Amino acid sequence: MTMSLETKLVVSSIALLATVSVVIATATTLLFNDFLIDQLDSQVGSAVRRSTGAVGQSGEVAFLLSPGQAEGTFGARVHQGMVRRAAVLTGAGTVREVAAPPSLARVTSMPVTVSLGPLGDYRMVAAWARDGDLPVTGLPVTGMQSMLSRLVVVEAAVTLAGVALMAVACTLLVRRAVRPLGRLAATAARVSELPLASGDAVLLARVPEVDADPRTEAGQVGGALNRMLGHVETAFAVRRESETRLRQFIADASHELRTPLASIVGYADLTRRSGERQGPQTAHALGRIRSEAGRMATLVEDLLLLARLDAGRPLERLELDMSPLVVNAVRDAHAAAPRHRWLISLPDEPALVVGDGDRLHQVLTNLLANARTHTPPGTTVTATVLLESDRVRVEVADDGPGIPAHALPHVFGRFARGDGSRSRLAGGSGLGLAIVSAVAAAHGGRVEVTSVPGDTVFTLSLPLRDQVPPGETGSPR
Ligand SMILES: Nc1ncnc2c1ncn2[C@@H]1O[C@H](COP(=O)(O)OP(=O)(O)OP(=O)(O)O)[C@@H](O)[C@H]1O
Ligand SMILES: [Mg+2]
Repeated sequence: MTMSLETKLVVSSIALLATVSVVIATATTLLFNDFLIDQLDSQVGSAVRRSTGAVGQSGEVAFLLSPGQAEGTFGARVHQGMVRRAAVLTGAGTVREVAAPPSLARVTSMPVTVSLGPLGDYRMVAAWARDGDLPVTGLPVTGMQSMLSRLVVVEAAVTLAGVALMAVACTLLVRRAVRPLGRLAATAARVSELPLASGDAVLLARVPEVDADPRTEAGQVGGALNRMLGHVETAFAVRRESETRLRQFIADASHELRTPLASIVGYADLTRRSGERQGPQTAHALGRIRSEAGRMATLVEDLLLLARLDAGRPLERLELDMSPLVVNAVRDAHAAAPRHRWLISLPDEPALVVGDGDRLHQVLTNLLANARTHTPPGTTVTATVLLESDRVRVEVADDGPGIPAHALPHVFGRFARGDGSRSRLAGGSGLGLAIVSAVAAAHGGRVEVTSVPGDTVFTLSLPLRDQVPPGETGSPR
């Protein structure tokens, strides 16, 4: 059974206290019982001595009337194992005959307890008389019994009160003692809810100083937790620092590469158009230089954009209608791949979002370029803009061969390319979808993909610009 530490401590302390109390009470009762019996036996002894002083006539119980005998004293005559007479001394100083059990005959000079039925238990002793009769003298046990039961009642009451008091005190004390543990758990829970994986600046919660006192056990845990949180924070800071440096390096490198690349492209173009006579080999080489430099320039631009998005560079935040953006992008794609079928489906209302037009255009271009370069001619590509209650969805669907299932989970990764041969032919670097995903995220949206042969759908969803000031878009609202 799982119990809280608090319950466990309280229950076990109470159980312990109750056990100890019961043991003490039992021992006390037994000792007190022995003591009372000893006392009664010595009283019976005195009564016997008084009786033997006045044993009187054989068969009589007149010895009960000897001076000093207490009220309720029992006297009997036993002759050859037979009870001859039995009586008790009344309050009025007379003797009253009572029925005596046969077991009376077995009473000896050692005191024993004998039950007299309705009269209760008696402590009895027999003494030898000169006439051969056995005078038996006894005293009632009832007084002693009532004293014992009073003791038991008092003991029970004290034990119960003690246990109740202990329960309250123990609960309060234990609650106080485990409270720091609760605070430690709360701190740990708060830290565990932080989005540590995001890699942003993290300031971890700490256990309060009072709960980090090394003189207490909870404090030692608290102190250790604080030290650990400190290490985690430092580790994050170091990681952040190195990431920032790496991003900066990529951004700087890409930036530095732009100018020489532009020069190479420029000189290649210049040489090709110069009109100078070139051998076929030189012309081919120049063409290759031009196209490869162009590819490299695109790659460098992509890297620079990703590095900037990673660094969290602020984007432009303008109100934009996605529909015309999609129309333009599809028009460009159509021009680039006239043998594909291009379809557009737009909502009646403007699909307004807030964002950076150039970046969103690039997202659409990348998605449409994929639908064009990774599918054979004749493929139908459908671009759909959908308005939902809180978001705008742009779907780019094609009925081409699709993305292999094993590649699907990685398509948004950097330098992730599906089928190698086809991609290299298409000349992609594998950054297109990484940029789509990063731009979508920077706009507070996301991009998803589903693909089976004949049906590949990329879905970009962006938060809807909730309130549009009238007149800005010309829509009848
Ligand atoms: N519509 C599609 N149909 C089939 N495969 C696709 C489609 N879109 C993407 N892919 C696969 O996903 C991979 C990753 O796409 P991504 O756009 O990131 O890179 P790329 O197109 O190869 O290169 P880049 O876009 O950088 O020029 C592609 O190589 C391709 O295999
Ligand atoms: Mg691509």
